[in-house]
Amino acid sequence: MPVDSLDAECTACGGLLELRAQPPSMRGDALRQLFANRRGAIDGPDASGVWRYREMLAACTDDIVSFPEGNTPLLAAQGASRWSGCAALRVKHEGLNPTGSFKDRGMTVAITQARRLRARAVACASTGNTAASLAGYAARAGIPALVFIPAGKVAMGKLAQALAYGARTLLVRGDFDACLSLARTAARELGVYLVNSINPFRLEGQKTIVLEMLEQCGWQAPDWIALPAGNLGNTAAFAMALGAARDAGLIGRLPRLLAVQAEGAAPFARAFDTGFTALHPVTPNTVATAINIGDPASYDRAVRAIRETSGVVTSVSDDDILDAKAAIDAAGIGCEPASAASVAGVRRMIRRGVIAPDDDVVCVLTGHLLKDPDAVVRYHDRNRADGASYNRPQEIEPTLDELKRVLGDG
Ligand code: F0G
Repeated sequence: MPVDSLDAECTACGGLLELRAQPPSMRGDALRQLFANRRGAIDGPDASGVWRYREMLAACTDDIVSFPEGNTPLLAAQGASRWSGCAALRVKHEGLNPTGSFKDRGMTVAITQARRLRARAVACASTGNTAASLAGYAARAGIPALVFIPAGKVAMGKLAQALAYGARTLLVRGDFDACLSLARTAARELGVYLVNSINPFRLEGQKTIVLEMLEQCGWQAPDWIALPAGNLGNTAAFAMALGAARDAGLIGRLPRLLAVQAEGAAPFARAFDTGFTALHPVTPNTVATAINIGDPASYDRAVRAIRETSGVVTSVSDDDILDAKAAIDAAGIGCEPASAASVAGVRRMIRRGVIAPDDDVVCVLTGHLLKDPDAVVRYHDRNRADGASYNRPQEIEPTLDELKRVLGDG
């Protein structure tokens, strides 16, 4: 298919399209130096943590739509280390992107492409973050945006963003999988440009999560990269980036991927357990609404990603997700529930002996704490087994006596 097609999927077989980036003309040290020289740029493409790695991307770099995005920190997270049992745990905080999730990395590339194609409108189905990111980038580009989100199943921060940035927001009576099916039909029948992660330009941008992380690791690959997995676009993008980084002589060996799903939405983990013989879609149900997906669109390429990286897929309970999140939050880092699945998955794999406690592990935190404030307030409003609350706010009279009383000092 021509690269300037408005179709996000193959019109002949209905399958997903893939882009193959040309191998960069430089390799190894020269390429590492090129990327290093661009760090610190104040504006232009080099200021973006996506476009700085443009030699590794199959994307047109003219007239880009960029905030800029990326440039997210890689942090030590002692609280999460202790909680998970992984001594050298670090987190790559993709929640610190302009609209608060990793989606901005793919969206800058997809909306740049949409503008290049003069798309009359852009659309996506979403559990919330893609909608927020699409709405923001489409507004910046001046392209009308249409988002399909599952009614009642999207966190408040994300819905608020879609509305605020001016996207036409449709609350579909169904789950994410129904939204995606409708969005795909709408793209075919109504001629809007679909920018879900089935759009291969999205994955090109998301590859840079890994490239930037590897650069921050001094191009010494960690043993493991853990990430939450829903529709599986990111899992596929990570393996593409790792393979390309190895082929370009940027890293000497591949880290292993650990893709983590929520138990209530774990078709990929179930398929892994049976050697990927078949995918059985499920009716999803998890507190981590971002990954509440029962029939992942990028399944085939994610299977390849796990195979190529000797990866592992697992699932974790909602309680473990929320406890992992509380450990990350209490370290002053914070993330939304789905993001914490990565850390919960690491703990599970350490307990099972799959990951060693002294392995070098990077967990990707995919979304910002404020995406889902309701989940935080609900969590802290509960009582512990010993009767004390987690961190329930206390209402008081405006007097010093009352203050001393509640602080236990009078
Ligand atoms: N973490 C967060 C915060 C997400 O929003 C998503 C996906 C994922 C992880 C999983 O990534 O789908 O590539 O496996 N959110 C999509 C959305 C589905 O519509 O915002 P994936």
